[in-house]
Amino acid sequence: MRAHTSRPVFEPCSRLHELSAEEAAIYRQLDPAKIPQHVAIIMDGNGRWAGKRALKRFLGHQQGAESVHFVMETASRINLPFITLYAFSLENNLRRPKSEVNFLMKLLRSYLVGNVQRMNDNNVRMTYIGRIHELPSEVQETMQWATESTARNTGTTLTLALNYGSRSEIVDAARSILSDLIAEAHQRGCSLEDLLQVDGIEARLDEHHITDALYTRLTPDPDLVIRTSGEQRISNFLLWQIAYSEIFITDRLWPDFRGIHLLEAIQNYQHRERRFGGLGESFTDEDLDALEPATEVAEEIVTKLTPKQLAPR
Ligand code: FPP
Repeated sequence: MRAHTSRPVFEPCSRLHELSAEEAAIYRQLDPAKIPQHVAIIMDGNGRWAGKRALKRFLGHQQGAESVHFVMETASRINLPFITLYAFSLENNLRRPKSEVNFLMKLLRSYLVGNVQRMNDNNVRMTYIGRIHELPSEVQETMQWATESTARNTGTTLTLALNYGSRSEIVDAARSILSDLIAEAHQRGCSLEDLLQVDGIEARLDEHHITDALYTRLTPDPDLVIRTSGEQRISNFLLWQIAYSEIFITDRLWPDFRGIHLLEAIQNYQHRERRFGGLGESFTDEDLDALEPATEVAEEIVTKLTPKQLAPR
């Protein structure tokens, strides 16, 4: 059975005075009421950053870990409730050389050991998503320690996606829904088929059930996805959760990304009109009144079509 705990408490702080002068200048142009609830970042370009400097890829990752700290700190100062960073994908785990994977695991551990105090200073809570149980046991232990050491914090929740793939997350969700149903049928002493017939399958499986079975069940969907290094793809990241997210792509490589760039992305986001499949706020009732009735428009279109165009094919 999945443990159902509630969404973590978020208590806003007043630490805006800790922003740098440049950050504060951008923050002043933001609408504090429209700070996103959740920003998710695809951190990309560590290798290219190193390559441009004729350095080994490892050094790009090391510098990328520094960016994680800066971005986390700015996020907490502006009262961003949730930030999720794509740190290590399932595909990275399977397709990168063992030496690079081992280095990333070591870097993760040393990042956690070296940053838990800073997270506590910033009131940041540390969590993870992904197939964590497949990571080396000593890495899992350090991760667990970092989570426990920051669990009482009430500010930003920093989630690292590790050994994460969105498709495998959906597979894991489907499996857990199915195993819960089988367990319930067993408990009631009936077949799965009988159980599904009691309330109907629609009552047992809808979008809410899937959302509740994902690793992210305690986190709102991202409002904004940022990808660094200019690549225009999602790379199997939070596919279900980003259905209506705004996407911001910057050419900046992750090791060069700082809090100020997070603020710039949020500024860009605040100029977007989110529609969630509707018509948006700029579409007024007057616009609606001015629309010709659909039946009249359809009739007009039909009368303009030639008999050949109307003939079945
Ligand atoms: C993409 O760069 C980045 C990764 C595969 C790993 C992300 C890791 C970090 C930012 C550092 C470690 C993070 C923590 C939390 C300690 P890439 O190697 O794909 O770059 P490239 O596309 O330029 O080769």
